[in-house]
Amino acid sequence: MPCGSGPGVITLDGCAVDFYALAPAGREPGVIDAAVPPGSSILELGCGAGRVTHPLVAMGHRVVAVDESADMLAHVRGARTVQATIETLALRERFDAVVLGSNLVNVPDDDRLAAYLTTCARHVSAAGCILIERHPVGWFDEVAATDWQAGEIRYLLYDIEHDGPDLVSATVEYRVDTRRWTHEFVTRRLDDARLARVLDDAGLRLDAVLTDDGSWLRAKPVGASVAPSSTEQDGA
Ligand SMILES: C[S@@+](CC[C@H](N)C(=O)[O-])C[C@H]1O[C@@H](n2cnc3c(N)ncnc32)[C@H](O)[C@@H]1O
Repeated sequence: MPCGSGPGVITLDGCAVDFYALAPAGREPGVIDAAVPPGSSILELGCGAGRVTHPLVAMGHRVVAVDESADMLAHVRGARTVQATIETLALRERFDAVVLGSNLVNVPDDDRLAAYLTTCARHVSAAGCILIERHPVGWFDEVAATDWQAGEIRYLLYDIEHDGPDLVSATVEYRVDTRRWTHEFVTRRLDDARLARVLDDAGLRLDAVLTDDGSWLRAKPVGASVAPSSTEQDGA
C-alpha cells in the first residue's frame, strides 16, 4: 500500500499536494508537445497539481486535467479539471492525445493496469495517440540509493528492496527548506513484451519510442495509420 508523510494533504497514493504544487516541470511537457500536433486537445490522467498541465497550456494545448484528488486539482489553472479515478473515467469527448505519465503504467496490479489502458483507449480519437511514461526497463536492475539536489529541492531515494525480479519497493524523500515529505511506493517492471500484450488487450499498439531511455512511448489505436519512419524513435 503506498504511503506518504509530511506537511499538508497526502493523497490516497501517497503524494504530497504541497510538494507537487511547488515542484517544477522537468522534460515532460517538451516530450509531450513534440509528440502531438500544435494546439492539441490533451487528456492528462493523474495530473496532480498541474506541474505538467501548466506548461502544456502555455504551449497552446487545450488540456482536460484528471485526478482523484480534489486537493491536487485545486492548484490547476487554465485547464478544465475532472475529479475522478482513471479507472472509472468516462467522458463523452475524445482527445487528440491522452497522457498517462508519472510511471502510473508501472502499477503492480494487472487489473488496474488494464483499466488505465482501457480508459486511455476509450478517450482517444481515432487519429489520436496515447503518451505513456514508464520506468526504463533496466531501472529495476540498476536502481540504487541516491541523494541529489535540483534547485531548491533535495531528492533522496532509499529503502530499496527487490521483491522479485520485476518488483521494486522504495522510499523517495523530498526536502525543501525545513519541509520534508516521504513517499513509499511499489512499482513493477513493464518490459516491451508485456507492454505489447497489455496494449493489444486494450486495442492499442506501440507507435514510437520518444526518448532515448525508452521511458516515454507513444501508442495508437489499433487500425490507426502507422507513423512514417520517425526521428522520434531515436530521441525526444
Ligand atoms: C506522482 S503524482 C504526479 C502528478 C503529476 N502527473 C505530475 O507529474 O506532477 C500522481 C498523481 O496521480 C493521482 N492518481 C494516482 N492514481 C490515480 C487514479 N487511479 N485515478 C486518478 N488519479 C490518480 C494522484 O492523486 C496524484 O495526484
